[in-house]
Amino acid sequence: MNNPILTVEHLSVTFNHRQTVVDDISFEIHAGETFALVGESGSGKSITALSVLRLLPNNASLNAEAINLHGDDVLKRSEFELCKIRGRRIGFIFQDPMSSLNPVMTIGSQIEEVIKLHFDLSRDALQQRALEL
Ligand SMILES: Nc1ncnc2c1ncn2[C@@H]1O[C@H](COP(=O)(O)OP(=O)(O)OP(=O)(O)O)[C@@H](O)[C@H]1O
Ligand SMILES: [Mg+2]
Repeated sequence: MNNPILTVEHLSVTFNHRQTVVDDISFEIHAGETFALVGESGSGKSITALSVLRLLPNNASLNAEAINLHGDDVLKRSEFELCKIRGRRIGFIFQDPMSSLNPVMTIGSQIEEVIKLHFDLSRDALQQRALEL
């Protein structure tokens, strides 16, 4: 099998130095594979996903042996470098659209905003790509 797109090795996340909400999880995702992380509410699925992009709140501390995205160690990237990866090499559809989308902007313009940040496309091509998505 080809190299995995995403490798997470021994990830743990603790809040406020005392509440461990993700406890030593490891997994791999390969190209073309659908991977589902299943668990009851509050079991740490979102925190696991947010960890991959280093989008955790300030009171969280992350520990992992490796988080590799396309062979690139996410843990070694600066915030500036992560901004170039988020929305380009990996996308995130947040749960709860009422708080993750802006109600005074159309969905189309919010999708276009992400594409525009990473790709130099004409107005028409931008709109076309957003419609495809
Ligand atoms: N900012 C925070 N401060 C402290 N604890 C938090 C914070 N955010 C999340 N948690 C805790 O981390 C744990 C995991 O939360 P997470 O959102 O990952 O659950 P989930 O599996 O995605 O749940 P759901 O299925 O409801 O989306 C929960 O116990 C939650 O209360
Ligand atoms: Mg969740």
